[in-house]
Amino acid sequence: MPTIQSPDLRRALADRIRYYNELGIYDFYRRERNEAGSESMTTDVGPEATSSSQPELREEMSPRKSAVVARPADHNIFEVLTLKPEQNITDPVAALKLIREDLGDCTRCKLHQQGRKQIVFGVGNPQADLMFVGEGPGADEDAQGEPFVGRAGQLLNNMIKAMGLRREEVYIANVVKCRPPGNRTPERDECDTCSPFLMRQIAVIKPKVIVALGAVSAKNLLAINAPMSELRGRFYDFMPAGARSSDPSWQGAKLAVTYHPAFLLRDPRQKGEAWKDLQMVMKCLGLELPKQNM
Ligand code: URA
Repeated sequence: MPTIQSPDLRRALADRIRYYNELGIYDFYRRERNEAGSESMTTDVGPEATSSSQPELREEMSPRKSAVVARPADHNIFEVLTLKPEQNITDPVAALKLIREDLGDCTRCKLHQQGRKQIVFGVGNPQADLMFVGEGPGADEDAQGEPFVGRAGQLLNNMIKAMGLRREEVYIANVVKCRPPGNRTPERDECDTCSPFLMRQIAVIKPKVIVALGAVSAKNLLAINAPMSELRGRFYDFMPAGARSSDPSWQGAKLAVTYHPAFLLRDPRQKGEAWKDLQMVMKCLGLELPKQNM
């Protein structure tokens, strides 16, 4: 990315970026040039790719042709100009509080008008080594203001316990922080609007490992469109897009994908597969493999 020499241009750019930030837009992507020399957006994970309200169907989505959706801009002038309020705060509790304050009584996407009771920010240890990321709050979470407190949450608790951990030791959040009506899949624009806040949470918590729960979470975090069968069973190197940790020694997290607990409730035969994913995570974290499984 070329540096911008002209002070006037830099100032104009800073003003424009501040304006976007006030609208809740934090991430900027470079457009690829196509062969004709004009710019084009590479998009593929559209709402149609994730629109099934059936978790079973959502878990095993067919592969789409193109894979990577958006490439976050390199560390460049944009990043310097879009420093977040928590950027230099080393206390993770204070930093998360600033992110929560920035979110405010969010009206950035249409979910705020579609029956949400409250924003479900995230819960757990702000210095957790392990973070779970789901899709979005359901009815119970919307009522209680905490992620994964309903039936899927009970199963997630059991999964965490089977790993030899307590819920309070990990951090749990979602891609979108407001309940989509009727528990529908969050739409592309909703994920795009909300995920910068998740990226900032991740940059503050600095987990060693992130577990993406289900295809929607995985695809949003990784910007990869692939079926669960391809997403699972390996680690990805993950750096939160558009958010920088205050700790320069943090080199990002390992990210693993497993089935969403709601899917496992519908198809318990897949629990063994999910347990394999969690064992891979435990090994990475140096956790002892317990005898009992989930
Ligand atoms: N499903 C999710 O994806 N997140 C929750 O918080 C609850 C259910």
